[in-house]
Amino acid sequence: ASLENLDTAVPAPHRVQDRSLPAAAAATDSFDNTPDSDPSLPANQAWGRGILARVPGSDLGKAAVAAAAVGTEAELDAVINTAVTKGKAWGALSGAERAEVLHRAGEVLEARRADLMEVMAAETGKTLDQSDPEVSEAIDFAHYYAELARELDNVEGARFVPSRLTVVTPPWNFPVAIPAGSTLAALAAGSAVVIKPARQSARCGAVMVEALWEAGVPRDVLQFVQLGEKELGRQLISNPAVDRVILTGGYETAELFRSFRHDLPLLAETSGKNTVIVTPSADFDLAARDVAASAFGHAGQKCSAASLVILVGSVAKSPRFRNQLVDAVQSLKVGYPEDPTTQMGPVIEPAAGKLLRGLTELGEGEAWLLQPEQLDESGRLWSPGIRTGVRRGSEYHLTEYFGPILGVMTAETLEEAIDMANDIDYGLTAGLHSLEPAEMDVWLNRIQAGNLYVNRGITGAIVRRQPFGGWKKSAVGAGTKAGGPNYLIGLGNWEAVNGTS
Ligand code: ALA
Repeated sequence: ASLENLDTAVPAPHRVQDRSLPAAAAATDSFDNTPDSDPSLPANQAWGRGILARVPGSDLGKAAVAAAAVGTEAELDAVINTAVTKGKAWGALSGAERAEVLHRAGEVLEARRADLMEVMAAETGKTLDQSDPEVSEAIDFAHYYAELARELDNVEGARFVPSRLTVVTPPWNFPVAIPAGSTLAALAAGSAVVIKPARQSARCGAVMVEALWEAGVPRDVLQFVQLGEKELGRQLISNPAVDRVILTGGYETAELFRSFRHDLPLLAETSGKNTVIVTPSADFDLAARDVAASAFGHAGQKCSAASLVILVGSVAKSPRFRNQLVDAVQSLKVGYPEDPTTQMGPVIEPAAGKLLRGLTELGEGEAWLLQPEQLDESGRLWSPGIRTGVRRGSEYHLTEYFGPILGVMTAETLEEAIDMANDIDYGLTAGLHSLEPAEMDVWLNRIQAGNLYVNRGITGAIVRRQPFGGWKKSAVGAGTKAGGPNYLIGLGNWEAVNGTS
């Protein structure tokens, strides 16, 4: 098989070049990011202004979302059948041939960086400081999984047999990087893909998918759908042609998918309730900055976000660190992404249910160190909140809130702080701020989480360098880490060659 045998998509023109940009960011094929394009702003903000000026009226991805509507079971079956049938030729390509397409995908994603940032801001409220690295992560996934695809060709004694069809159900909080990473991994491993982005970020998913089509991934092999009825979601997951589902979302969603089909091969990265422990030996300036960024980046809407800071010994007893933390958090500029200086943006939808309770109600023994305030009528814009006095075993200690709230707990010793962290059913990310090597050893040996960070923030894992994934209730399924060397080998089957495998 070769790529020529596949119906590749007609490449769309590069929209970045077509669009007339405001003077501050005008350029032919790249934005002018020299500081003097607007001397009042740092370079990246001048560049960002060009993107953000377009956000209010942005229609990026709208047409593709409308075109992806699937309303009936028959239509869904047709999508699945086409993907499986056309996917055979894709799976028959060598890993090296698929790698070429993935590298091109990385290039197209780079060329469409501004579009991707625009649609993230317009649709989800993501701020520039978050959306720019997110596009970079998507690009990294493309090139890294391309390299891993090549390796699949060269395993002695075994042959990799791709899956027929992988369903990708990504979340809204990383609306480009996670759909891109999951889709690119499945494609690299030779599977056809049906992707159904979260309802709140369908346009982001559409622009990402268009980039992959433009790079040469056949449209039939990568199918983008929007399901009109909830019942269609069940039918998609339950279809026996689906060899694997890659889900990133809440733990409850993973359970729901399993209830649809008990033998479902599910690879799910789920919830987190992540802690940072600060010991008396810590560099407090660094710790305050890192905790603030990890707790309130993207308004706390990251599975990797810091949700609890546990103060040990004298750090707990003195107000010094708490005051520094409050200062750091209060200095964050809250607003909408249209202002390029915004550091903390809105939540995805008007706060409701558990998140609203978390922003407005305290548990027993708790007090506000910094009380969150609703900043406008939308219900989406809140100032960051810090609750202190969080008790061991309380609701705030053990459950995920997914918003701009941080809790403070106290412990007599590092051992006790680690026990408090390990009480939590999830185990995704964790942080330690300490300058004592012996404390680092104890923590690294005992803490139960997938991604561990010492003396730095706990979000923003980097492809290849920090493969990302948790344990306990933060992962359901095979448990290999995204952006790591073993991710592709679990996405298909292995056949012995010459009986020697
Ligand atoms: N991979 C994302 C992070 O590390 C969720 O923050």
